[in-house]
Amino acid sequence: MKAAVYYETGGPDVFRYEEVADPTCGPGEVLIRVEAVSIEGGDTLNRLGGDLTGVPHIVGYQCAGEVLDVGHGVDDLVPGDRVVTVGLDGSHAELRVTGRSFCWPIPDGVPTEQAACVPVPFGTADDCLFEFGRLQAGETALIHAGASGVGIAAIQLAKRAGATVLATASSPERLARLESLGLDHGIDYTATDFVEAVRTLTDGRGADVIVDSVGGSNLQRSLHCLAYRGRCVTFGDAGRETSSTLDISTMRSQNQTLVGYFLGAELFLGTRAHAMVAGHLNDIAAGRLAVVIDRRFALEEAGEAHAYIESRQAFGRVLLIP
Ligand SMILES: NC(=O)c1ccc[n+]([C@@H]2O[C@H](COP(=O)([O-])OP(=O)(O)OC[C@H]3O[C@@H](n4cnc5c(N)ncnc54)[C@H](OP(=O)(O)O)[C@@H]3O)[C@@H](O)[C@H]2O)c1
Repeated sequence: MKAAVYYETGGPDVFRYEEVADPTCGPGEVLIRVEAVSIEGGDTLNRLGGDLTGVPHIVGYQCAGEVLDVGHGVDDLVPGDRVVTVGLDGSHAELRVTGRSFCWPIPDGVPTEQAACVPVPFGTADDCLFEFGRLQAGETALIHAGASGVGIAAIQLAKRAGATVLATASSPERLARLESLGLDHGIDYTATDFVEAVRTLTDGRGADVIVDSVGGSNLQRSLHCLAYRGRCVTFGDAGRETSSTLDISTMRSQNQTLVGYFLGAELFLGTRAHAMVAGHLNDIAAGRLAVVIDRRFALEEAGEAHAYIESRQAFGRVLLIP
């Protein structure tokens, strides 16, 4: 098969488009022909400096396509079914193998390209807000990087749960596009101190739940606008700060909670998160949640696609099409 591979981590120009060995389908696994790759925020970070599981390395968490083969023990999928898949690597390719528990059948009416964008952003957003953030109707949620894949999912989920939704982004144009998805108050953090803005918008109380994918100094400042009994969920380092320390000394007197989150562990250790994502796919089929796709590139243009994302122009997901 053809794949977008690299031999060392670095900038988008590390990608090579090469012929590599086809993956094989073992017991409990599913082989798909990839039709759409959703480039996840973690894919760009892994390409920049993540672990190499081998060389050449095929990066990528999430893609969707048609089942070609199933391994022993998989009796509820057949060749020809459409599925979306998640794995630690291997999405930037023409073929992909994952375990059955990391596959979801795509409901009728959901285009394969849209399904390709669902499990990681929607699963992460849902768990950060509710399972770990315990967001309730009537509370205020602050969602960092609102125009990101996870951010766009989180804004919709928080709004439909009856929360007041605040989000940060790097321009007024990005924030304006989030209003139709449920954003109540946008904060352009390049022009305004988001800590001050959150305090002003909440009459000094702070946000009840903060969903922080940026990390580093942003996470420190999130703790400075967290409400009494507030919950801050940290799940990413999109800000790309290489080292940072966190001062948590203000949290105790405010009865606040700081939680780390990793979707992969929830999918690996039980069935709850798998069922949650199946619900998101059904909600998309029914028009209750929306997927935002920004642009499509050919798989051989993986470097250009990653560079476009890192230029901070993407609103929602960028796809690779093999
Ligand atoms: N723990 C988990 O299970 C889990 C699951 C999913 C994602 N993640 C992590 O969450 C983060 C976001 O993922 P995503 O898929 O939502 O990302 P994405 O769609 O690629 O968006 C990332 C956003 O981060 C913002 N950003 C802030 N500082 C940035 C910087 N220095 N460089 C680039 N972008 C920057 C940008 O928005 P503005 O320009 O508007 O600021 C950008 O839109 C990543 O770190 C990813 O690894 C973790």
